[in-house]
Amino acid sequence: MKARVTASAAYTIADIDKRLYGSFLEHLGRAIYTGIYEPGHQHADEQGMRRDVIELVRALDTPICRYPGGNFVSAYNWEDGVGPKENRPKRLDLAWRTTESNQVGIHEFADWAEKAGTEMMLAINLGSRGLDAARAFVEYVNHPGGTYWSDLRRKNGRKDPWNCRVWCLGNEMDGPWQIGQKSATEYGHLANETAKALRGLDPTLELVVCGSSHSDMPTYPQWEATVLEATYDQVDYISLHMYFENYEKNTQEYLALPVKLDRYIGTVASVIDFVKAKRRSKREVKIAFDEWNVWYHNRKEDAERVRTWDWPEAPRLLEDIYNFEDVLQVGCILNTFIRRSDVVRIACIAQLVNVIAPIMTEPGGPAWRQTIYWPFMLASKHGRGTALQLAVDVSTYDAAAADKIPWLDIAGTLDADRGTLTFFAINRHSSEAIEADVSLEGFRAKEVEHTIIRHDDLEARNTMQAPDTVTPKKADGARLGGRGIELVLPPHSYSMVRVT
Ligand code: AHR
Repeated sequence: MKARVTASAAYTIADIDKRLYGSFLEHLGRAIYTGIYEPGHQHADEQGMRRDVIELVRALDTPICRYPGGNFVSAYNWEDGVGPKENRPKRLDLAWRTTESNQVGIHEFADWAEKAGTEMMLAINLGSRGLDAARAFVEYVNHPGGTYWSDLRRKNGRKDPWNCRVWCLGNEMDGPWQIGQKSATEYGHLANETAKALRGLDPTLELVVCGSSHSDMPTYPQWEATVLEATYDQVDYISLHMYFENYEKNTQEYLALPVKLDRYIGTVASVIDFVKAKRRSKREVKIAFDEWNVWYHNRKEDAERVRTWDWPEAPRLLEDIYNFEDVLQVGCILNTFIRRSDVVRIACIAQLVNVIAPIMTEPGGPAWRQTIYWPFMLASKHGRGTALQLAVDVSTYDAAAADKIPWLDIAGTLDADRGTLTFFAINRHSSEAIEADVSLEGFRAKEVEHTIIRHDDLEARNTMQAPDTVTPKKADGARLGGRGIELVLPPHSYSMVRVT
């Protein structure tokens, strides 16, 4: 199959906010306990944090990490996680029917984030709590001292404020599964009043209001309109979530789903514009896509276990083992974010360790990279700079999610500082290679380098026993030629092509 692509240095979409490659850690399953934190592990540091995990996170170069939930946050008392560890209460976590030991709280997470080279994005409980707990938390985290909450932080061992910039006003407040679910009107009012109070503490905070939990919610997209009408003057981002599934084991349909993601982003961007126009506002509100990933491998079994188990502590939960097919999917999702980087400024892979995550650990054992670690790492490291508006001519197929799905999914970024052009390309076709002529305008190509992720078996996985089954390799499918470069992209493959 032939494809023609044109990339011009003059046709750009946006400067990519590096926080497009954000991540997420929730007090859920083994994300925290035996994930990032395992005192007594041979690689644990003086605070009990696993150095081997920190190393894998650092290599991902994820600039921001959302914490502490997720559904967990909607019944979380942040005060339970501060002060001497021996005094911290054990609590029932109603979201996942587990027991929370509170051995990790804001101090431990903030120290971990610093070591992992990532900024904090903190979520506030607007489910079981409200404005007062929110303002106390922000004061504790961000105020220098001389007040009750900031002095308590100092007493608990942290003199300087952490100065966290990005705060989420609750989590998935539209969801019937959420503790303290609200109607759009109720939530819009509470979020607006909370935002006003937090702006009283610091007008420069970046505040994220909850959008829909996914685009099949019955209240979508009216939820966004109602919530934004109530909060538009106070917030900076609206949060969206989407998880991808392939229960039918139909690769072609599965790989079409990012088009639904694209439509979701486009619709919410239009709702933002609608509210902005209605309010005659100059204010820019953008999207924080702060939960996304593949999530289906154990989902039904997990839901059943959660219903019946007896409040375990840090159980194995949502430990999806990803395959090579998911590499293609994650590649297409990241390409969608790059192409929509004018409106999606923050995005967080959900999650980071053990729970639907690119990094896995074994208690007392090793840490390793899942298959999806690789496309995330390549995009995070190299998909920086400016997103390019590519012209792509390739044949398409019709799917349930949408018609005209291009067999080639491609995004391009220009890093002017390093003088590098990078393409991320996924061939969705199961049996045909794609021969792509890529014309480059306003860019002189001297060298080209091709990295590929491919496996004959779509089900191939990285496991503790075989952690390198699916990894990126150097390839020879790209060469200088014609008016730019020529690519040969094998069937069902993920490629990164870098031109200097
Ligand atoms: O990431 C897992 C869960 O998915 C989060 O707790 C919740 O916000 C979403 O439904």
